[in-house]
Amino acid sequence: MRNRRAALATLAGAASLALTLSACGDTTAGGRKVGSGDGTIGIAMPTQASQRWLTDGKSVVDDLKSKGYDTKLVYGQDNPKTQVAQIEKLVEEGVDALIIAAIDNKSLNGVLQQAAAAKIPVISYDRLILGTQNVDYYVSFDNEQVGRLQALYIVDKLGLEKGKGPYNIELFAGSPDDNNTQYFFDGSMHLLQPYIDSGQLIVRSRQTTLDKVTTLRWDGPTAQRRMQAVLSQSYGNRKVDAVLSPYDGISIGVLNALKADGYGTGSKPLPVITGQDAELPSVKSIIAGEQSQTVYKDLRELATVAADMADDLINGRTPNVNNRRSYKNGVKAVPARLLQPTSVDRTNYEYVLVAGGFYTDAQLK
Ligand code: GAL
Repeated sequence: MRNRRAALATLAGAASLALTLSACGDTTAGGRKVGSGDGTIGIAMPTQASQRWLTDGKSVVDDLKSKGYDTKLVYGQDNPKTQVAQIEKLVEEGVDALIIAAIDNKSLNGVLQQAAAAKIPVISYDRLILGTQNVDYYVSFDNEQVGRLQALYIVDKLGLEKGKGPYNIELFAGSPDDNNTQYFFDGSMHLLQPYIDSGQLIVRSRQTTLDKVTTLRWDGPTAQRRMQAVLSQSYGNRKVDAVLSPYDGISIGVLNALKADGYGTGSKPLPVITGQDAELPSVKSIIAGEQSQTVYKDLRELATVAADMADDLINGRTPNVNNRRSYKNGVKAVPARLLQPTSVDRTNYEYVLVAGGFYTDAQLK
């Protein structure tokens, strides 16, 4: 029994306390309110530098507030140590549950030990926390499917199934300390590798394994520098026809390098370039015909599931999951609720993003 209310009842071991709890729906443990919709949830997000995490933070806070909770939202500015210190503080302050999108998935073992000792339930948000028993639930999207959607877009646009090629492709992956990176890459490579093996796709840089293509902290300028180096070292007069990019911030960095190299003109068109998160600059880039595609994940849905999970755990209910086996964190398989991503390009952004209420037309102008 990990949730605070259940823990309190165990500690007291008395029907009278249970009666008090249900009668008042409001009691205190160390000065905190507990009960349905009462209590404070700590939310640790990775960075404010990317629009998506701002949306995530705001959506989780709004959902929890609408259920009656107080919230403490912190951003670790992509520094693992900062995030650990922030979570330590939230534990000390006695939050009733933690929702965490980790910066470095392996850096939280110590602080989550403290959370477990304080009987604070932990929800791993979007990125799986690794190497610890002390993570209770995971909410994310089907991360392999994200990678598959990116690869499928490339396969389709280049006509690989019809036997076309050879085409030049370069591969980018996310941050090596983010568990999602491997899932995205595996999902993509499952579909791309056969075409690399058959020679329809050629990776001129020869950088094809995950360790060669990651991008620390998903940083756009880092990807831009790598793309610049690849173009100057491996391309000469040749052209790159496709770039597998796992995330919009990386896609924008790659596009900057390509444009600086003369791509985007009649004789040197931009390659097919994928992305993820439907961030505003990338959706505008898609509309302008630069970035080709992104994978949209409805963060409002993700936030709602996380808020529901926290509410369930605080109130002794079992959260709804749809996957109990796929997300193993090195210590255990973490029960997960996985949502479905959607591929978005110029042909369907109006329908998915505007009609779906994620952006207004005015924002996309
Ligand atoms: C991943 C996340 C992606 C993207 C990336 C960079 O963990 O699943 O959607 O946001 O981080 O922030």
